[in-house]
Amino acid sequence: MSNKTFYITTPIYYPSDNLHIGHAYTTVAADTAARYKRMRGYDVMFLTGSDEHGQKIERKAKSEGLTPIQYVDGIVANFKHLWEKMLITNDDFIRTSEDRHIKVVQQIFQNIYDKGDIYKSEYEGRYCTPCETFWMDRQLDEGKCPDCGREVELLKEESYFFRMSKYADQLLKYIETNPDFIQPKARRNEMISFIKQGLEDLCVSRTTFDWGIPVPIDDNHVIYVWFDALTNYISAIGYLDDPETFNRYWPADIHLVGKDIVRFHTIIWPIILLAADIPLPKEVFGHGWLLLEGGKMSKSKGNVVDPLILIDKYGVDAVRYFLLREMPYGNDGSYSEGALVHRINMDLANDLGNLLSRTTAMINKFCDGKIPEPSSMQDEDTELFDLAARIPGEVEELLEKMEMAGSLAKIWELVNKSNKYIEDMAPWSLAKNPDTKARLGTVMYNLAEVIRIVAVLCTPYMPTLPNKIYQQLGISDNKEIHGWDSAKKWGSIPYGVEINRGESIFPRIQPEEAEVVQEKADSKPKQAPTEEAANLIDISEFAKVELKIAEITVADKIEKTDKLLKLKVSLGIEERTVVAGIAKHYEPDELLGKKVVLVTNLVPATLRGITSQGMILAASKGKKLSLLTVEKDVPVGSKVK
Ligand code: MSP
Repeated sequence: MSNKTFYITTPIYYPSDNLHIGHAYTTVAADTAARYKRMRGYDVMFLTGSDEHGQKIERKAKSEGLTPIQYVDGIVANFKHLWEKMLITNDDFIRTSEDRHIKVVQQIFQNIYDKGDIYKSEYEGRYCTPCETFWMDRQLDEGKCPDCGREVELLKEESYFFRMSKYADQLLKYIETNPDFIQPKARRNEMISFIKQGLEDLCVSRTTFDWGIPVPIDDNHVIYVWFDALTNYISAIGYLDDPETFNRYWPADIHLVGKDIVRFHTIIWPIILLAADIPLPKEVFGHGWLLLEGGKMSKSKGNVVDPLILIDKYGVDAVRYFLLREMPYGNDGSYSEGALVHRINMDLANDLGNLLSRTTAMINKFCDGKIPEPSSMQDEDTELFDLAARIPGEVEELLEKMEMAGSLAKIWELVNKSNKYIEDMAPWSLAKNPDTKARLGTVMYNLAEVIRIVAVLCTPYMPTLPNKIYQQLGISDNKEIHGWDSAKKWGSIPYGVEINRGESIFPRIQPEEAEVVQEKADSKPKQAPTEEAANLIDISEFAKVELKIAEITVADKIEKTDKLLKLKVSLGIEERTVVAGIAKHYEPDELLGKKVVLVTNLVPATLRGITSQGMILAASKGKKLSLLTVEKDVPVGSKVK
């Protein structure tokens, strides 16, 4: 077992309902960090679980005619099923209804009580049941819960209180001397000013419901859910009865949580630990929220997005990629199915998918289906090599800081550079000349190698992708070149290996396949666009149109029509048939060799029984028509943008 350990946790989720893609984001991000650390040789403990007690769950179970445990058993089974489908590699799953958890919570409560930091008194205050949170009058937002905006209940009851105020200075000192404890920075500043306003003692027991852990010294009370829930992070690793495991993993390296619960993790949790004489976690990272166009996702709004449906439709790698790529560091991200499809088509199908399929097609066509032997490097190769040498270290740095989106963008820098390398090197031209055969070998070898490196780097984010790539490159059995460190060893892919060109790893999604997966669309009426706005499109809409330079190689008249011509055009490694309505303006012969602009991502159309795989651009006014062509010579297949 490695002596480098890494303990990462997600929040334990409320089983008041099934989980949505917002929850899935947290767990996928934690899983990516855990997978990455395992690849780097760490002994990882990755924990998730369910936060099962509280009045809300008790009420919900009752409304369904079930006991609380019957009710939560059902939902928790769904949680576990979702995590399996998302390929989450948690090492443990803690349920707060388990004995191993209950006894730790009671012991910690007892220890703090014995020390005199928990005392009995009377409580009068406002309670938000959905958030399981007490508020003081001054904290309410127009009389409602400041977090969720719902009604609060006035409660007056006997309660146990935790002397939080006693530890405020000690906590501030810890935050100040450990600048990385609260991440990102902005949340740290927020918490510091919250503590400086003064901490009230916290009510840590309830008498108005039963579904909770009994207070060890008083059967009439159950322990406040947050005191119960936060303790999961130590009960799961054997705080009371497995000191070896506990000492191995505690203090945790990262508690990954959403921004709404940073306060609980950076104030209440550390103070419980301080009072119980247990070291504090090294870092709490508060990520932003995944929002829908209409704002927050919630069951009561009826706009939650079910990750299981998305996975069945688009595949687990694509959904994971989207979540990780779309959530900017520390800020909120936004979800729409259109944005998901756009990412799949642009980043995965176009950029990465095409890189692999063009490379394997050319190795098949020009190199007898075997990865060729490279010869000496030229400047352009060195540029690609330098980038490939630099990117893994940059990805590591960003991953260590939980900058998931930024780290993926780095990997895509390498993908995009590789696509540009293909355009610049034009292997199809090198293949025409026997004198440039050695050069062709170097170019194709470099492409295979850079794709291998990209596959290695993508492993923590998209777990099923690398094997599909290794399979096509013919290296699925060479495990030693799949590990993280091998991404830093240029030249690891062996030459002479037979490749297996296969299906596209990410087929393009046609827009009509992307219907809305939301349970119910936001019912807010959309504002009518102004005339001006209706005519404008943003750059991402324009970017959906794929335009490339193609050379016309064959042109024929089509019988019984005086408008259409049947053309064959070359895109370099691919040839397409196109039916064009230009017969009145051009003779077939004068078209041969012309370099034109082709729309390459249109749904094929059948005209006069011929399938047309694209559209050639032309300018026309009245009776005049001219094909668009290029002003300087550029290789076929060049992108127009
Ligand atoms: N049970 C508590 C956590 C206790 S941890 C000791 C809880 N549960 S929760 O199910 O309501 O939320 C769990 C996590 O999901 C929180 O970190 C929350 O921020 C996150 N998310 C809920 N909706 C979200 C989005 N729409 N986007 C991103 N994360 C979101 O709080």
